[in-house]
Amino acid sequence: MERYVSKSEGETVHFGHEFAKRLRPGSLVALYGDLGAGKTQFVKGICDAFKVNEVVNSPTFTIVNEYHGTMPVFHIDLYRIKDIEEILGIGFDEYSEAGGVCLVEWAEKLDGIIPEMRFDVKITVVDDTTREIIVESSEGGD
Ligand SMILES: Nc1ncnc2c1ncn2[C@@H]1O[C@H](COP(=O)(O)OP(=O)(O)OP(=O)(O)O)[C@@H](O)[C@H]1O
Ligand SMILES: [Mg+2]
Repeated sequence: MERYVSKSEGETVHFGHEFAKRLRPGSLVALYGDLGAGKTQFVKGICDAFKVNEVVNSPTFTIVNEYHGTMPVFHIDLYRIKDIEEILGIGFDEYSEAGGVCLVEWAEKLDGIIPEMRFDVKITVVDDTTREIIVESSEGGD
């Protein structure tokens, strides 16, 4: 487990960029944290590392954004999803097996179907500009 303290939006992007070195095709990153915690900023950093040129935003009307970088990046936001059925309905299983990396905001909604092999990234708001970021891996090696 690693713990980081981010003092700015840019620093969280930077942590995401560094963290991305640990990802491989098929990796799943489960992101946890309140609205505005910084999940999408962290995702932006990961996307930078994979040289994604598209604009990275929380998918608002779509549940999934697929980006094209040095490997496919599936950015999934489950905030509006009601139940597991709906999650499977968007093709979650296919995304997680598509040979890219899957970055899932509001991953707590995957309760019961969350793959065991994954990274958990938990972001907590400390104050206006400070965030605590905890990274845990079940992928071994750290
Ligand atoms: N240290 C920090 N790290 C990340 N974001 C920060 C930090 N300090 C302030 N912020 C601000 O917090 C907000 C984080 O927004 P972001 O969209 O990343 O949150 P989110 O966790 O994805 O929320 P949502 O659940 O609504 O998608 C931004 O407005 C950003 O400028
Ligand atoms: Mg977001």
